[in-house]
Amino acid sequence: MQSLPSFSLQPIILTVFLLCITTKVHSSTLGADIEVLRLFKQSIDPVSIPAYSYIYSWDFSVDPCESSGAFLGILCKFPLDNSSIRIMAIDLDAIGYDGFLSPSIGNLSELSTLSLGRNNFRGPIPETIGNLQKLTRLSLAENLFTGRIPPAITKLKILDTLDLSQNHLSGSIPTNITILRSLTHLSFANNALSGRIPDLTGLWQLNTLDLGNNQLHGNLPKLPLNLKILSLKRNILSGHLSPLKSLHHLTSFDVSDNRLSGIIGQELLTLPMVTQIDVSVNQLTAIEAVRVPHRESQLQELDAHGNELRGRLPIGLVSLENLAVLDLSHNRFFGPIPREYGSKVGTSWKTLFLANNFLSGNLPPEFISSATTIRGSLANNCLKCPATNPLCRGGQKSNSECVSQNARR
Ligand SMILES: *[C@@H]1O[C@H](CO)[C@@H](O)[C@H](O)[C@H]1NC(C)=O
Ligand SMILES: *[C@@H]1O[C@H](CO)[C@@H](O)[C@H](O)[C@H]1NC(C)=O
Ligand SMILES: *[C@@H]1O[C@H](CO)[C@@H](O)[C@H](O)[C@H]1NC(C)=O
Repeated sequence: MQSLPSFSLQPIILTVFLLCITTKVHSSTLGADIEVLRLFKQSIDPVSIPAYSYIYSWDFSVDPCESSGAFLGILCKFPLDNSSIRIMAIDLDAIGYDGFLSPSIGNLSELSTLSLGRNNFRGPIPETIGNLQKLTRLSLAENLFTGRIPPAITKLKILDTLDLSQNHLSGSIPTNITILRSLTHLSFANNALSGRIPDLTGLWQLNTLDLGNNQLHGNLPKLPLNLKILSLKRNILSGHLSPLKSLHHLTSFDVSDNRLSGIIGQELLTLPMVTQIDVSVNQLTAIEAVRVPHRESQLQELDAHGNELRGRLPIGLVSLENLAVLDLSHNRFFGPIPREYGSKVGTSWKTLFLANNFLSGNLPPEFISSATTIRGSLANNCLKCPATNPLCRGGQKSNSECVSQNARR
């Protein structure tokens, strides 16, 4: 298991990954830190440690931090006095290491980065991780960790990045996670987390939050005001979108595939920085798009397909000057396609999906002349849609279906 690393590989990779802050000739690495690395390696199935991997280079016959020693994937902290060298980062390669994360990891008290992403670490995330008081970056993404998010994670006071996405974690999000005031990036996406999302306003420096693809329920939580990127997609969230309207720094949000209801308010469409909105596959019933010039609007993409939007197509959307991609398909819109939409087709609108509604009448002329310059579909409405027009592929419903929808209103 501890055969010597191949010497041909060493010189190139070594210099990149072994960071020497200062070189103190006579210090050596703290024995307890070396012991942790040894246990770390022992908790990984040797079969999953190929000869070209970082961990293969962990050969304990030399000091991990000596420049001649080839411990790839670790960074060392060299003291200014005569105290011992400490391990300050473990940043592994994505090789598919198969094993457990040894609880002794909690003894690396100078560790500031622990990054094990895209491997096959399994079992629980040890509670001892809470002892790593100097940790600023923790990424265990894309592994096979099970169990809950260890509550002790809330002790990592200076954590900046926390990424536990794509594992098999269950249980709820610790409500006191909001103690982690330094977090700028938080992702628990693609797990099996349940329960409600706690109030996260305390995370005032957070700019990216991804809780997508879990089983979280309840209303949208209170969110930090500096948030720029938000994904809560594929959960079972309910209630209204209104908590999002105070997030003036949002550049994109995705709350698709939940059970959200109510309206898509004007304040959301005109958030000053927002370029992408995805509210598709929910139970929303109206778009409040007022027709006033929104020269400030940055919105480029609006996906609201698969809702219960009803009434006539909102004319106000044409005043969102940067809008290029619009999907309102699979809703209950009826009546004609507004003439105003014609002026956008073939100019600023590049993608337009209006399929599977109850629209009727003739197409605005631009829908004929520009049909080849726009991607999209008008299928399965009751439109007078010439079969030769690429937008009309898929056919239309019978008129009576749209009349009855109109009458039900
Ligand atoms: C970790 O620290 C604990 C408490 O100081 C000690 O008992 C244990 O032996 C240490 N483990 C390692 C691997 O150094
Ligand atoms: C560090 O150096 C001082 C003075 O030379 C000495 O008294 C002390 O024992 C040394 N400490 C260690 C950990 O070597
Ligand atoms: C947060 O709550 C959990 C469980 O209620 C607890 O174990 C943990 O110590 C708390 N964290 C802090 C920093 O108080």
